[in-house]
Amino acid sequence: MTTTPVSIDAAGDRDRTKFNRDRPVLAVEHVQKTYRSRERSVEAIRDLHFTVQAGELVCIVGPSGAGKTTLLRCIAGLLPVSGGTVVFEGEKVSAPPAGMAVVFQEYARSLFPWMTVRQNVILPLKEKKVPRAERARLTDEALAAVGLADSHDAYPWQLSGGMQQRVAIARAVAYEPDILIMDEPFAAVDAQTRAELEDLVRELWRRLGVTVLFVTHDIDEAVYLGQRVLILSNRPTVILEDVAIDLPDDRNQLETRSDPVFAAHRAHIYGRIQEAKRGTAPSRPSSD
Ligand SMILES: Nc1ncnc2c1ncn2[C@@H]1O[C@H](COP(=O)(O)OP(=O)(O)O)[C@@H](O)[C@H]1O
Ligand SMILES: [Mg+2]
Repeated sequence: MTTTPVSIDAAGDRDRTKFNRDRPVLAVEHVQKTYRSRERSVEAIRDLHFTVQAGELVCIVGPSGAGKTTLLRCIAGLLPVSGGTVVFEGEKVSAPPAGMAVVFQEYARSLFPWMTVRQNVILPLKEKKVPRAERARLTDEALAAVGLADSHDAYPWQLSGGMQQRVAIARAVAYEPDILIMDEPFAAVDAQTRAELEDLVRELWRRLGVTVLFVTHDIDEAVYLGQRVLILSNRPTVILEDVAIDLPDDRNQLETRSDPVFAAHRAHIYGRIQEAKRGTAPSRPSSD
């Protein structure tokens, strides 16, 4: 599927200069999260501390149950932290901030089935009170950018899983967020579609200059996409390492994945996660 170049470059350039490069867009400061109910408490996140600078593409990789979704929900202001703070654009997060867009794994549940593709993409822009003509332009551009220029009037249930996830990405991009947060967005699509969507994320990131925080359990995906990869331990979760991925910006599925640098990063990250499983696995049985 080809994607059409769009004229969002100007907006991207504006965003690139909007923040001081030396000040992080996002600061996760010693965040802790324990789920408490009457019967039990689950310490999902012990202590996470990191920053994301404007324009970065940062991946977070960690085993299933490590608390990745928990972390993203805390960052997005959808869940209160038990300790520490999340600071977005200089302000403490306590409710969903205006400048964030989140793409979740479950595309089937994230789109409204009774609305067309176009209506799904345009809805948050109406809520954001973007003027009508601007809404139409942003929607056209975003749908073209994800290769769905011909599917405006389709309903989500008429589309494949991969196409539905493209709609969710278009909706996030049209919103012009300062940070795009993605929670294992491609875990439920087939391998071929997944590779295409990975390339789409890199392409949009490079073209729009948007800051991206991408969470996955897939080590290869994290190395392929990221400029940095934060490795999470298993629960209770801490950051094992912050790895700079020194692969060229021009990446492609065949060459990048057979690059010895790629293989070395993959082996290193895999080793760290295995080490953590052996050494610091929680002594009580996992709840999931
Ligand atoms: N609402 C909840 N109440 C209690 N425990 C929860 C809740 N949501 C998640 N957990 C637990 O927190 C841990 C981290 O979950 P999650 O953030 O979904 O991990 P991941 O996204 O990395 O797979 C898991 O042990 C999970 O069972
Ligand atoms: Mg999750």
